[in-house]
Amino acid sequence: MTQDELKALVGQAATSYVEPGSVIGVGTGSTVNCFIDALARMVQPIRAAVSSSQQSTARLKAHGIEVLDANQVESLAVYIDGADEIDHRGYMIKGGGAALTREKIVADIAGRFVCIADESKLVTTLGRFALPVEVIPMAAAQVARRLRALGGEPALRAGVVTDNGGQIIDVCGLSIADPVAMEREINQWPGVVGVGIFARNKADVCLLGTAQGVRTLTF
Ligand code: 5RP
Repeated sequence: MTQDELKALVGQAATSYVEPGSVIGVGTGSTVNCFIDALARMVQPIRAAVSSSQQSTARLKAHGIEVLDANQVESLAVYIDGADEIDHRGYMIKGGGAALTREKIVADIAGRFVCIADESKLVTTLGRFALPVEVIPMAAAQVARRLRALGGEPALRAGVVTDNGGQIIDVCGLSIADPVAMEREINQWPGVVGVGIFARNKADVCLLGTAQGVRTLTF
């Protein structure tokens, strides 16, 4: 099976975690695009979605699915999103699509995080994928210095402005043995809008696309 077929497989599988008539949280990325397309095919539709990016909002609306502002909801039963890496405890690196901050906000509102990913994303230790950090532009150089002091090699993602007007620094060379501690540390630096470690808002379930079919990991 190709990677695209694996993404379509888990995108479809995630619809079984969606209650008809409910309001759900929707992530961002190519795997989520497959999920949004599967959502549109559901016989009993959802009521609406809270979206984590302008990109997903456009796709949801193109399918005729209503999109609510995050401030209009008190809770969401489920949040469905992809990941750049996920480990065996459900900790993730996210933000390859620069949507990490809004993704974390929507995940925080939701009671359950269902991650959809192909098996190439499963790792023993987070850090092979460059860690995205969203910053206020004025803080980019200072945050980069701090990231270098942590042992990483930061690089500004050229030409990218996030939906929040921020910039993304991608950090290579970090081996993230303690995702909870590193998320807390980076989050407290002035000018950091969000860090792509999802430890406090980790996955509860991962639907992993494999050549043998969908493997369900629960954490
Ligand atoms: C976007 C994300 C995505 O979930 C992550 O990059 C995975 O994307 P894809 O499904 O295209 O591999 O965090 O900010």
